[in-house]
Amino acid sequence: MKIIFLGDVVGEPGRDVVKAAVPFLKEKHGADFVIINGENCAGGNGITPRLAIELMRYGADVITLGDHTWDQKEINPFFETEPRLLRPLNYPAGTPGAGSVVVGGNGKKLGVVNALGRTFMGPQVDNPFLLVEPEVEKLRAETPCILIDFHAETTSEKIAFGRLMDGKVSVVVGTHTHVQTADDRILPGGTAYLTDAGFTGPHESVIGRDIASVVQKYKTLLPNKFYIAREGLQADGIVVEIDEETGKALSIERIQHKVHLSS
Ligand SMILES: [Fe+2]
Ligand SMILES: [Fe+2]
Repeated sequence: MKIIFLGDVVGEPGRDVVKAAVPFLKEKHGADFVIINGENCAGGNGITPRLAIELMRYGADVITLGDHTWDQKEINPFFETEPRLLRPLNYPAGTPGAGSVVVGGNGKKLGVVNALGRTFMGPQVDNPFLLVEPEVEKLRAETPCILIDFHAETTSEKIAFGRLMDGKVSVVVGTHTHVQTADDRILPGGTAYLTDAGFTGPHESVIGRDIASVVQKYKTLLPNKFYIAREGLQADGIVVEIDEETGKALSIERIQHKVHLSS
């Protein structure tokens, strides 16, 4: 089984990248599933039902989120009707939506889990190091092929989480920093790991935002609107091959796919 995962989609340029890149990458790699982190879809802040449907139309089988999950209020009731849109598992009990799902069928089933880290992160969520393992155990009753999007700031928390989950899931991939790390590897237990996938959108920017407005904020400390950048369109992520019988990863490869739109 082959899976493509793409990092945080930023704004309209990010959605344009998904539209252009996903069909191409899916074909190129012969991917069975595409998982996309959509937490910055709506002008950088969260996602709406319309944009979630748009990403799925472009080929996303599951959409994961992060600390921007609740930025757009209209997304809350949508979780009830769309189980393939995940919010982090470790929000308080009773929060709309779910943190895991199993997709596919006919011998190709993939479990996907979304969780949020806690170090230097805003939301005071429950401990992912305690909550994710039992959730994975439940999914393993259906399939050994499981991907976790661990949305967190620090490399240390993400690496520790990857080591905790090694051998229990097929893939642990980080998101949130928008900067792709170069530490892709298969851990000793057979879990494909990358600390951060990067982001999908305009890379001629400061993590997706207009350079001048971010620099101005750092110079003056005055509140400033961060506009979405436009240039340097690129999809960041990974493609992973998994042994369907064991759920162990066979290979992991990083994606940095540049997109040139003609208009
Ligand atoms: Fe993000
Ligand atoms: Fe984030």
